[in-house]
Formats: sequence, C-alpha cells, structure tokens
Amino acid sequence: MKTKQTASANETYRVGYELGLLLKDEPHIVILLDGDLGTGKTTLAQGIAKGYGVDDIVNSPTFTIMKRYQTKDHMHHFYHLDLYRLHEVGNDFDLEEYIDGSGMVVIEWPYQVSAFMPKDYLLIKINKIDETHRELTMTCVGFPCKRAVKYI
Ligand SMILES: Nc1ncnc2c1ncn2[C@@H]1O[C@H](COP(=O)(O)OP(=O)(O)OP(=O)(O)O)[C@@H](O)[C@H]1O
Ligand SMILES: [Mg+2]
Repeated sequence: MKTKQTASANETYRVGYELGLLLKDEPHIVILLDGDLGTGKTTLAQGIAKGYGVDDIVNSPTFTIMKRYQTKDHMHHFYHLDLYRLHEVGNDFDLEEYIDGSGMVVIEWPYQVSAFMPKDYLLIKINKIDETHRELTMTCVGFPCKRAVKYI
C-alpha cells in the first residue's frame, strides 16, 4: 500500500500519467478508482490514459458506461468504465469481458456491482482532504504493479 497527496487537479493528473507510463508494457491491467463524487477519479484516469499512450481526449463516460480508446502506436486498448449508472443498463453489460480481456481497464465506481472483484487489480482510493488536496491510497492486489506503485 502506498499513499500520496496531491495539491491540485494537475498533480493528480501527473500521478496518473506516471502510473500509465510505468504500466505501459503490461499486457492486461485493471485499475479500480474508488472515491466520492468529484474527488478526481476522471482526472486521474485521464492522466493514466495519456501515460499509457492514448492521445485522444478521455472524457467521463458516465452516460455510456464504457468508452474504448487505442494507444497511438495501435498496440493496446484502453477501456474507461464508469459503473455509476450501471443499474440503468440492466443485464446488457458484460463486465467480465473487460476484466478478463487485454489492455488497460480503468473503472470508476467499481463497487456499484455487488460481488464484483477482478482477481488482479490496482485499487486507488481517493479521499478529499479539502477543496484542492486529495489523498491517493494505492493497493496492489495480485498482478505485478508493486514496482510501478513503488516508483510513483
Ligand atoms: N488535488 C486534486 N485532484 C483532483 N481533482 C481536484 C484536485 N483539487 C481540485 N480538484 C477538482 O476536483 C474535480 C474532480 O473532478 P473529476 O471529474 O475528476 O472527479 P470524479 O471523481 O471523476 O467525479 P465523478 O464522481 O462525478 O465521476 C475537478 O473539478 C478538479 O478540478
Ligand atoms: Mg468521473
């Protein structure tokens, strides 16, 4: 487990960017972003995407559940999921497909699904300290992200 504080949205983006860079060569990674409304999950996801090699603008996918991007070298997919409204979609959405797939999968509101938990994942919990400060707690479960987290 590792804890890091940021003092601005830019700093949170930067932490994501570094993480994305460090995990660039992993064939499959699931990152769970846990935190209250407006804490910075999407900001962090945008940084991760950029570091991972995605040049497109990554927006909040709230109304679409999932958006898929490609890295600029066309080597990897980057999936941005937001499960906040998953209950409105019903059974049409197959989460397992992404969890067991390839590429990088970043999930906001992962605990909307009861009994959902990928086997290997990096969990980042974001806590709001005040208007501009956030505390990021990173926990690496199963897959080899420990090294990446160490260098963040
Ligand atoms: N240190 C910080 N890190 C991240 N965001 C910050 C920070 N300080 C202030 N902010 C602001 O907090 C907001 C975070 O918005 P963001 O959309 O990233 O949150 P979110 O957790 O994805 O929200 P939602 O729950 O609606 O998906 C932005 O307006 C950003 O400018
Ligand atoms: Mg968001």
